[in-house]
Amino acid sequence: MIIKLDKIDSTNRYALTEFANLADNSLVIADCQNAGRGRRGKSWFSPPGVNIYASYVIKDAQFPFYVSLWICGLASLRTLRETAPGINLWLKWPNDIYCSPKHCPQAKLKMAGMLAETYSPAASNIISGIVAGIGINLNMLQADIEKIDRPATSLLLETGLKVNIVYFAEKLLENLQYYRQLAEKQGDQFFAEWQQENRLLGQDVSLRQDNGELISGKVTGFSSRGEMIIRDNTGGSHNIMTGELEKF
Ligand code: BTN
Repeated sequence: MIIKLDKIDSTNRYALTEFANLADNSLVIADCQNAGRGRRGKSWFSPPGVNIYASYVIKDAQFPFYVSLWICGLASLRTLRETAPGINLWLKWPNDIYCSPKHCPQAKLKMAGMLAETYSPAASNIISGIVAGIGINLNMLQADIEKIDRPATSLLLETGLKVNIVYFAEKLLENLQYYRQLAEKQGDQFFAEWQQENRLLGQDVSLRQDNGELISGKVTGFSSRGEMIIRDNTGGSHNIMTGELEKF
């Protein structure tokens, strides 16, 4: 079921507050957010009427928390490709969708980001649900894209296609449910698909860890726990759970 809101602070905040009243597999969408949440305490630029700002409600998850981000990433990729076949999109660990335009394949432009948050009932530490937030730049024009603090793009800028946001949300919800089932029932196939979409495999990266340490080396794989595996210049192997990619 899709719940449509007009203006809200954050669809994630709304879905967490209303969690008990929302059905499993609901998708909360809003026309705009005035306090859209991004990763690492950043804000997510959410002007009215142009993009999708969505939060997917997951109850009784049969998978670890980080898998909800993979579900969102794969479902968003599939929906974007169904909408605009031929577009060159890829997943950037841990939870972004990037576009490398065909006319400029070395460019890396962010089109979407995911932020999952856990739900625990008041006065309890038990995690009983996940709200998985998805922000995708759909119909955003260049003037707004330039307000984003990193190289970014929108589906409209890449394809000239103006998308019906509610129709896109319906397709997105179908794909979220498809990948949720795949994760629950055929975990190996699901993981293989997620791994394959990660363009960073085999590439040289530099990653800033949460303790400030910089690790540089080649990405050799991803573990089924969601870690990125980097082999550094001395041959040492690092399994990284969180951090910020500074070079990729
Ligand atoms: C990122 O920093 O890349 C993650 C961005 C996640 C943004 C989405 S928009 C809908 C949902 N509600 C929020 O407040 N944030 C997420």
